[in-house]
Amino acid sequence: MRIVLLGPPGAGKGTQAHRLAERYELDLIATGDTFRWNVQNDTELGREAKSYMDAGELVPDDVVVRMVVHALSSVKNGFILDGFPRTLTQAQALEDSLGEHGSPLSAVLVFRLEDEVAVKRLAGRRTCPSCQRTYNVEFHPPKSDMVCDYDGTELIQRRDDEEHTVRHRLEVFKAASEQLEKFFDARDLVRVVDADAPEDQVTERATAALDDLAEHLAGG
Ligand code: AP5
Repeated sequence: MRIVLLGPPGAGKGTQAHRLAERYELDLIATGDTFRWNVQNDTELGREAKSYMDAGELVPDDVVVRMVVHALSSVKNGFILDGFPRTLTQAQALEDSLGEHGSPLSAVLVFRLEDEVAVKRLAGRRTCPSCQRTYNVEFHPPKSDMVCDYDGTELIQRRDDEEHTVRHRLEVFKAASEQLEKFFDARDLVRVVDADAPEDQVTERATAALDDLAEHLAGG
Protein backbone atom coordinates (compact mmCIF):
# COMPACT_ATOMS: atom_id res chain seq x y z
CA MET A 1 0.00 0.00 0.00
CA ARG A 2 1.11 3.53 -0.76
CA ILE A 3 -0.83 5.98 1.37
CA VAL A 4 -0.94 9.75 1.80
CA LEU A 5 -2.41 11.36 4.93
CA LEU A 6 -3.80 14.88 4.53
CA GLY A 7 -5.31 17.10 7.19
CA PRO A 8 -4.80 20.19 9.32
CA PRO A 9 -2.16 20.51 12.02
CA GLY A 10 -3.37 18.63 15.10
CA ALA A 11 -5.70 16.31 13.17
CA GLY A 12 -3.70 13.32 14.39
CA LYS A 13 -1.88 12.44 11.16
CA GLY A 14 1.34 11.62 13.00
CA THR A 15 -0.46 9.61 15.67
CA GLN A 16 -2.38 7.56 13.11
CA ALA A 17 0.59 7.27 10.72
CA HIS A 18 2.58 5.37 13.40
CA ARG A 19 -0.37 3.06 14.07
CA LEU A 20 -1.11 2.37 10.40
CA ALA A 21 2.56 1.88 9.52
CA GLU A 22 2.83 -0.79 12.24
CA ARG A 23 -0.43 -2.46 11.30
CA TYR A 24 0.28 -2.70 7.56
CA GLU A 25 4.10 -2.96 7.88
CA LEU A 26 4.77 0.15 5.85
CA ASP A 27 7.65 2.62 5.87
CA LEU A 28 6.68 5.92 7.46
CA ILE A 29 7.91 9.09 5.80
CA ALA A 30 6.98 12.17 7.84
CA THR A 31 8.41 15.34 6.37
CA GLY A 32 7.95 17.41 9.55
CA ASP A 33 9.79 14.75 11.60
CA THR A 34 12.62 14.58 9.06
CA PHE A 35 12.99 18.37 9.14
CA ARG A 36 12.93 18.40 12.95
CA TRP A 37 15.66 15.71 13.07
CA ASN A 38 17.77 17.83 10.73
CA VAL A 39 17.18 20.99 12.78
CA GLN A 40 18.10 19.12 15.97
CA ASN A 41 21.30 17.83 14.38
CA ASP A 42 22.12 21.20 12.80
CA THR A 43 22.49 19.84 9.25
CA GLU A 44 22.46 22.05 6.17
CA LEU A 45 18.87 20.92 5.46
CA GLY A 46 17.90 21.74 9.04
CA ARG A 47 19.39 25.22 8.83
CA GLU A 48 17.53 25.77 5.56
CA ALA A 49 14.17 24.62 6.98
CA LYS A 50 14.28 26.10 10.50
CA SER A 51 13.10 29.66 9.90
CA TYR A 52 10.15 28.48 7.79
CA MET A 53 9.10 25.94 10.40
CA ASP A 54 9.37 28.32 13.34
CA ALA A 55 7.15 30.80 11.49
CA GLY A 56 4.62 28.12 10.52
CA GLU A 57 5.38 28.60 6.82
CA LEU A 58 5.97 25.87 4.27
CA VAL A 59 9.53 24.92 3.42
CA PRO A 60 10.12 25.62 -0.33
CA ASP A 61 8.86 22.91 -2.68
CA ASP A 62 12.21 22.08 -4.29
CA VAL A 63 13.79 21.32 -0.88
CA VAL A 64 10.89 19.10 0.25
CA VAL A 65 10.51 17.26 -3.06
CA ARG A 66 14.22 16.40 -3.18
CA MET A 67 14.05 15.05 0.35
CA VAL A 68 10.94 12.91 -0.25
CA VAL A 69 12.06 11.49 -3.60
CA HIS A 70 15.29 10.45 -1.89
CA ALA A 71 13.37 8.79 0.98
CA LEU A 72 11.05 6.97 -1.44
CA SER A 73 14.01 5.45 -3.27
CA SER A 74 14.72 3.12 -0.33
CA VAL A 75 11.12 2.01 0.35
CA LYS A 76 10.57 -1.76 0.07
CA ASN A 77 6.98 -2.71 1.02
CA GLY A 78 4.95 0.44 0.57
CA PHE A 79 4.74 3.63 2.59
CA ILE A 80 2.70 6.18 4.46
CA LEU A 81 3.42 9.82 3.73
CA ASP A 82 2.58 12.13 6.65
CA GLY A 83 2.84 15.83 5.82
CA PHE A 84 3.50 15.47 2.11
CA PRO A 85 2.32 16.64 -0.36
CA ARG A 86 1.21 20.08 0.83
CA THR A 87 1.10 21.91 -2.50
CA LEU A 88 0.04 21.04 -6.03
CA THR A 89 3.68 21.19 -7.13
CA GLN A 90 4.54 18.57 -4.50
CA ALA A 91 1.54 16.42 -5.49
CA GLN A 92 2.56 16.46 -9.14
CA ALA A 93 6.18 15.67 -8.27
CA LEU A 94 5.01 12.71 -6.17
CA GLU A 95 2.81 11.39 -8.96
CA ASP A 96 5.65 11.72 -11.48
CA SER A 97 8.15 10.00 -9.21
CA LEU A 98 5.82 7.08 -8.41
CA GLY A 99 4.79 6.84 -12.07
CA GLU A 100 8.41 6.35 -13.10
CA HIS A 101 8.49 3.21 -10.94
CA GLY A 102 5.03 1.96 -11.99
CA SER A 103 3.81 2.11 -8.39
CA PRO A 104 1.03 4.69 -8.06
CA LEU A 105 -0.67 5.75 -4.83
CA SER A 106 -3.27 3.40 -3.31
CA ALA A 107 -5.11 5.83 -1.05
CA VAL A 108 -5.36 9.38 0.26
CA LEU A 109 -6.96 9.72 3.69
CA VAL A 110 -8.23 13.21 4.42
CA PHE A 111 -8.56 13.88 8.17
CA ARG A 112 -11.16 16.48 9.14
CA LEU A 113 -11.08 18.44 12.41
CA GLU A 114 -12.45 21.77 13.62
CA ASP A 115 -9.82 24.48 14.20
CA GLU A 116 -10.60 24.94 17.90
CA VAL A 117 -10.16 21.23 18.63
CA ALA A 118 -6.84 21.28 16.75
CA VAL A 119 -5.59 24.31 18.71
CA LYS A 120 -6.49 22.62 22.00
CA ARG A 121 -4.77 19.37 21.01
CA LEU A 122 -1.58 21.13 19.93
CA ALA A 123 -1.40 23.21 23.12
CA GLY A 124 -1.20 19.92 25.04
CA ARG A 125 1.08 18.05 22.65
CA ARG A 126 4.43 16.73 23.86
CA THR A 127 6.81 14.99 21.46
CA CYS A 128 9.63 12.50 21.84
CA PRO A 129 12.64 14.09 20.11
CA SER A 130 14.14 10.65 19.64
CA CYS A 131 11.38 8.48 18.06
CA GLN A 132 8.97 11.37 17.22
CA ARG A 133 5.98 9.71 18.90
CA THR A 134 3.46 12.24 20.19
CA TYR A 135 1.62 12.45 23.50
CA ASN A 136 -0.92 14.83 24.96
CA VAL A 137 -1.03 16.08 28.53
CA GLU A 138 -4.82 15.79 28.49
CA PHE A 139 -5.80 13.12 25.94
CA HIS A 140 -2.82 10.76 25.82
CA PRO A 141 -0.33 11.32 28.66
CA PRO A 142 2.82 9.17 28.82
CA LYS A 143 2.76 6.34 31.38
CA SER A 144 5.53 7.93 33.41
CA ASP A 145 6.05 11.63 34.02
CA MET A 146 6.97 13.37 30.74
CA VAL A 147 9.21 10.65 29.28
CA CYS A 148 8.55 8.57 26.16
CA ASP A 149 6.85 5.18 26.82
CA TYR A 150 9.01 3.56 24.14
CA ASP A 151 12.54 4.83 24.76
CA GLY A 152 12.48 6.86 28.00
CA THR A 153 13.58 10.09 26.30
CA GLU A 154 12.39 13.32 27.95
CA LEU A 155 9.45 14.77 26.02
CA ILE A 156 9.57 18.29 24.57
CA GLN A 157 7.08 20.90 23.37
CA ARG A 158 7.39 21.92 19.70
CA ARG A 159 8.30 25.56 19.07
CA ASP A 160 5.59 25.84 16.41
CA ASP A 161 2.84 24.74 18.82
CA GLU A 162 2.41 28.22 20.31
CA GLU A 163 -1.17 29.30 19.67
CA HIS A 164 -0.48 32.17 17.23
CA THR A 165 1.83 29.95 15.14
CA VAL A 166 -0.73 27.13 15.19
CA ARG A 167 -3.41 29.50 13.92
CA HIS A 168 -1.11 30.62 11.11
CA ARG A 169 -0.32 26.97 10.23
CA LEU A 170 -4.07 26.33 10.01
CA GLU A 171 -4.41 29.20 7.52
CA VAL A 172 -1.45 27.94 5.47
CA PHE A 173 -3.08 24.50 5.41
CA LYS A 174 -6.45 25.88 4.27
CA ALA A 175 -4.89 27.88 1.45
CA ALA A 176 -3.81 24.68 -0.32
CA SER A 177 -6.04 21.91 0.98
CA GLU A 178 -9.01 22.30 -1.36
CA GLN A 179 -6.86 22.15 -4.50
CA LEU A 180 -4.92 19.19 -3.17
CA GLU A 181 -8.07 17.28 -2.35
CA LYS A 182 -9.44 17.96 -5.84
CA PHE A 183 -6.18 16.73 -7.38
CA PHE A 184 -6.47 13.36 -5.62
CA ASP A 185 -10.25 13.17 -5.91
CA ALA A 186 -9.89 13.33 -9.69
CA ARG A 187 -7.79 10.14 -9.37
CA ASP A 188 -10.49 8.46 -7.24
CA LEU A 189 -8.13 8.00 -4.30
CA VAL A 190 -9.77 10.01 -1.52
CA ARG A 191 -11.58 8.86 1.61
CA VAL A 192 -12.54 11.36 4.31
CA VAL A 193 -11.99 10.41 7.97
CA ASP A 194 -13.72 12.32 10.79
CA ALA A 195 -10.77 12.83 13.17
CA ASP A 196 -12.80 14.20 16.08
CA ALA A 197 -12.94 11.02 18.14
CA PRO A 198 -10.64 9.10 20.50
CA GLU A 199 -7.47 7.76 18.88
CA ASP A 200 -8.64 4.10 18.70
CA GLN A 201 -11.85 5.11 17.01
CA VAL A 202 -10.00 7.23 14.44
CA THR A 203 -7.73 4.24 13.72
CA GLU A 204 -10.82 2.08 13.13
CA ARG A 205 -12.26 4.70 10.79
CA ALA A 206 -8.97 4.97 8.90
CA THR A 207 -8.57 1.21 8.44
CA ALA A 208 -12.21 0.89 7.36
CA ALA A 209 -11.63 3.65 4.80
CA LEU A 210 -8.50 1.89 3.48
CA ASP A 211 -10.36 -1.45 3.20
CA ASP A 212 -13.24 0.27 1.44
CA LEU A 213 -10.94 1.95 -1.04
CA ALA A 214 -9.00 -1.28 -1.72
CA GLU A 215 -12.28 -3.09 -2.42
CA HIS A 216 -13.47 -0.26 -4.64
CA LEU A 217 -10.23 -0.23 -6.66
CA ALA A 218 -10.40 -4.01 -7.03
CA GLY A 219 -13.83 -3.54 -8.57
CA GLY A 220 -15.75 -4.95 -5.56
P1 AP5 B 1 4.37 18.69 10.46
O1 AP5 B 1 5.24 18.14 11.51
O2 AP5 B 1 3.97 17.81 9.34
O3 AP5 B 1 3.13 19.37 11.18
P2 AP5 B 1 1.57 19.46 10.78
O4 AP5 B 1 1.15 18.95 9.48
O5 AP5 B 1 1.24 20.87 11.07
O6 AP5 B 1 0.91 18.43 11.69
P3 AP5 B 1 1.13 18.23 13.18
O7 AP5 B 1 2.36 17.39 13.41
O8 AP5 B 1 1.08 19.53 13.95
O9 AP5 B 1 -0.20 17.47 13.60
P4 AP5 B 1 -0.66 15.98 13.33
O10 AP5 B 1 -1.84 15.98 12.45
O11 AP5 B 1 0.48 15.08 12.95
O12 AP5 B 1 -1.17 15.62 14.79
P5 AP5 B 1 -0.52 14.68 15.93
O13 AP5 B 1 -0.72 13.24 15.59
O14 AP5 B 1 0.84 15.13 16.31
O15 AP5 B 1 5.06 19.99 9.77
C1 AP5 B 1 5.72 20.95 10.55
C2 AP5 B 1 6.37 21.99 9.66
O16 AP5 B 1 7.34 21.37 8.79
C3 AP5 B 1 5.41 22.73 8.70
O17 AP5 B 1 4.77 23.82 9.31
C4 AP5 B 1 6.41 23.17 7.59
O18 AP5 B 1 7.17 24.28 8.01
C5 AP5 B 1 7.34 21.97 7.48
N1 AP5 B 1 6.87 21.00 6.49
C6 AP5 B 1 6.52 19.70 6.73
N2 AP5 B 1 6.13 19.10 5.59
C7 AP5 B 1 6.21 20.02 4.61
C8 AP5 B 1 5.91 20.01 3.22
N3 AP5 B 1 5.44 18.89 2.63
N4 AP5 B 1 6.09 21.14 2.51
C9 AP5 B 1 6.58 22.25 3.08
N5 AP5 B 1 6.87 22.34 4.41
C10 AP5 B 1 6.69 21.24 5.18
O19 AP5 B 1 -1.54 15.01 17.13
C11 AP5 B 1 -1.58 16.31 17.69
C12 AP5 B 1 -1.87 16.21 19.20
O20 AP5 B 1 -3.18 15.69 19.39
C13 AP5 B 1 -0.94 15.25 19.97
O21 AP5 B 1 -0.73 15.74 21.26
C14 AP5 B 1 -1.74 13.92 20.03
O22 AP5 B 1 -1.39 13.14 21.16
C15 AP5 B 1 -3.17 14.44 20.10
N6 AP5 B 1 -4.13 13.58 19.42
C16 AP5 B 1 -3.96 12.90 18.26
N7 AP5 B 1 -5.08 12.23 17.94
C17 AP5 B 1 -6.01 12.52 18.93
C18 AP5 B 1 -7.36 12.14 19.17
N8 AP5 B 1 -7.99 11.33 18.32
N9 AP5 B 1 -7.99 12.64 20.25
C19 AP5 B 1 -7.33 13.47 21.12
N10 AP5 B 1 -6.05 13.86 20.97
C20 AP5 B 1 -5.38 13.38 19.87
